[in-house]
Amino acid sequence: MQFIAEDLEDSTEKLSGKLAAEKARPQHAIDRYFYRSHLVYERELKHLIFRSWIYACHASELQEKNDFLLFDIGEESIILTRDSAGEIRALHNICRHRGARICEEKCGNKKTFVCPYHGWVYNTDGTLKAAREMHMRSDFDPKEHGLVAIQTTVFMGLVFINCNSEASDFSKPLENLRKPLGAYNLEKAKVAHKHTYQIATNWKLVLENYLECYHCATSHRAYAKSHTLKDVYEKVEPVVEKMLENTEKITGIKGMGKDYDRIYLNAEEFGACVYTSRYALYDGYKTGSEDGEPVAPLMGNIKDYDGGTGDFQMGPLSFMLNYPDHCVLYRFIPRSITSTDMELVWFVNEDAKEGTDYDKDKLTWLWHHTSLEDEYIINRNSEGVNSRFFKPGPYHPEFEEQLQAFVHWYLHTLESTLNL
Ligand code: FES
Ligand SMILES: [Fe+2]
Repeated sequence: MQFIAEDLEDSTEKLSGKLAAEKARPQHAIDRYFYRSHLVYERELKHLIFRSWIYACHASELQEKNDFLLFDIGEESIILTRDSAGEIRALHNICRHRGARICEEKCGNKKTFVCPYHGWVYNTDGTLKAAREMHMRSDFDPKEHGLVAIQTTVFMGLVFINCNSEASDFSKPLENLRKPLGAYNLEKAKVAHKHTYQIATNWKLVLENYLECYHCATSHRAYAKSHTLKDVYEKVEPVVEKMLENTEKITGIKGMGKDYDRIYLNAEEFGACVYTSRYALYDGYKTGSEDGEPVAPLMGNIKDYDGGTGDFQMGPLSFMLNYPDHCVLYRFIPRSITSTDMELVWFVNEDAKEGTDYDKDKLTWLWHHTSLEDEYIINRNSEGVNSRFFKPGPYHPEFEEQLQAFVHWYLHTLESTLNL
């Protein structure tokens, strides 16, 4: 992790001036200030990250009652658990006595969480079960000292959380994905592999890299050989249109090629982005693998390979790339001003057996390889952006369109919170 010295002259006035400067220079990359200011980072966590819907885990990772796992965002730790009644919950990992972390193991199965400090005991639904000797305080009500709960939405086996208790339910905007996402039957999927790439840069650089494919042709040779997204639409339109014409017939799924685009400022609710489109692979490629050949059995209800791949966004930080035989989820989580967890999760059908139906190395090759290339280029990007001599340049109007949608939302949100 890089250390960035605190700017002692940083202030809300400075932020206000920097936001005004961005407005005067639209359609350009943003100033290095936004990647370096500690004041900005605090505001991002408060006003963007902890008010957004974020993918937390897959329901199959909390298979049994009392299964739990930890999810870290920024400096926060969240316990994801299936309580003793079978309900999935998200709870702040903070003791209601004097604030110690109550759970240290990354995952496991426990009937209760016992605080290591003074021994308060919590049930897996967050209620306080016992608080040693606290009966000596006549005003102490255990019911008022349960772990603080976080909002959750479970959609097709995907568990999302939102730390803003007033956020409206995410399942309504997600309904727009029911047909194309439903095809993969993710409720009946399993996590074949997951890996967290810890990238030593600001989270926005990692996310921005994901939001544009201008760099695909130059940074990702293997991806670019097989995926048409690396080209401007005008060039690949015939391939995409041909795939879309046949997609329903070949996959057997109505609505498989559906487009939906309500992201960032255009999202139905704050932090509830929803996006889908289907784009083509080049001829001869059936899926996202090293040679384009299948790497797992067909997922869900999909009947055959249509030469396409489903692109999804759910919330500002979570995405999926869904091939007929496997799905890859991407999630970007800030951990500090210069540290980001980029988590990838590979899904296959729940009954697919490793070694027989799929080989983990083959399954993960393309996106592991592509992520390492991204990590390399994001680090180079960060070095340049952090330079006092960096002058932001113009965005590409098509390739960097989604990235600009993010930047508009980002700047707009910071601006709207200036007086808060
Ligand atoms: S801080 Fe948890 S019991 Fe005291
Ligand atoms: Fe990339």
